[in-house]
Amino acid sequence: MTRFIPFSKPCSDDEEISAVCDVIRSGWWTTGPAVFEFEKKVIEFLGDESLQAVALNSCTAALFLALKALGVGPGDVVAVPTVTYVATAHVVEWCGAELLLCDIDYDTLCISLESLKKYEHKNIKVVMPVHMAGLPCDMEPLMQYCRDRGIKVVEDAAHSFGAKDRGIQTGAIGDAGAFSFYATKVLACGEGGMLVSRNRELIERARKLSYFGIDKRAFERYTSKGTWYYEVEDLGYKFNMDSIHAALGIVQLKKQNMMLEKRTKIASYYDKNLPAEIVRPFRRDSVSHVWHLYPVKLPEGVDRDQVFLGLREKGIGTSVHFIPLHRHPYYSPRFVAEHFPNAEKNYASSLSLPLHAGMSIEDAEYVISSIRMVLGSV
Ligand SMILES: Cc1ncc(COP(=O)(O)O)c(C=O)c1O
Repeated sequence: MTRFIPFSKPCSDDEEISAVCDVIRSGWWTTGPAVFEFEKKVIEFLGDESLQAVALNSCTAALFLALKALGVGPGDVVAVPTVTYVATAHVVEWCGAELLLCDIDYDTLCISLESLKKYEHKNIKVVMPVHMAGLPCDMEPLMQYCRDRGIKVVEDAAHSFGAKDRGIQTGAIGDAGAFSFYATKVLACGEGGMLVSRNRELIERARKLSYFGIDKRAFERYTSKGTWYYEVEDLGYKFNMDSIHAALGIVQLKKQNMMLEKRTKIASYYDKNLPAEIVRPFRRDSVSHVWHLYPVKLPEGVDRDQVFLGLREKGIGTSVHFIPLHRHPYYSPRFVAEHFPNAEKNYASSLSLPLHAGMSIEDAEYVISSIRMVLGSV
């Protein structure tokens, strides 16, 4: 069989399988005790009992509900970095608010405060920083800027579950934070997400909106002490997490430190051994990185697509994070690429190398030697 090192792969064993089987046997598959336990355990893991959490079926849902719970709607303005997954921007569009795209800091790939400041005249209601690749944004100056202007901060912490900036968990720095438990993420449920905040009212609003705006959850209606009556109090959605995904999350949470250790080991090996001309991901002393991704910058003049194809031929999966949003046909008519010089420069040379907890040092060495070979031939 030919060797293939996937770009990403969930890390699991029999424990995940038996946890899912337990839920199936329990007869309660939708939102219920496993989901509430997962929410509780995530808060314990984050180490801050003042946080509240609602488990959802995606980070996208968490971002959207955070905006809805903050009352974002037509006439409001929300700023996001142009280098992110489309989810961060689409949720703003779904609210009917005005979307502002900001450039990134070239080194960290996180939102550029300088770029945000250019929209000073715009009466921004919410900023959504993205902790790119698992590296926390420099949150202190951003929070200061936003607090001084009454701007709310919703952290897109899709990549950064467990990462800290100056000792504080990402997701718990702003007014609300959204985690992704999508299959490739540092904690994987297949699909899943969680919204966290210290604002109990915001979480309760999001919880109600996550299930049609109904005042009672199915679990409170269909169990032995349940009652059939419920009221629809708002135009809610169907974003609740089910027990099968939560069961996966509970097991993954127990392995979080082990999985992070493995990811960190591979990232450090890349750092030390990749060819000198490749620019490694940025590291900052005051943060802990969770290494969701390992995005490098290829040397100037090297054709990224040729490197991608060359590595694919050698059985190595890579990816690009991200095509800047202002380049997508849906968004491009509204934005001008020249306004995002750092995003453009990064996009030209960016390539994310395989990184997941199931990788061995031998795999990383194979990636490195293949890169040397491919760079020598393009
Ligand atoms: C930065 C960012 N935000 C949000 C999301 C959406 O996450 P989910 O797939 O859990 O909805 C992703 C998904 O990859 C992402 O990369």
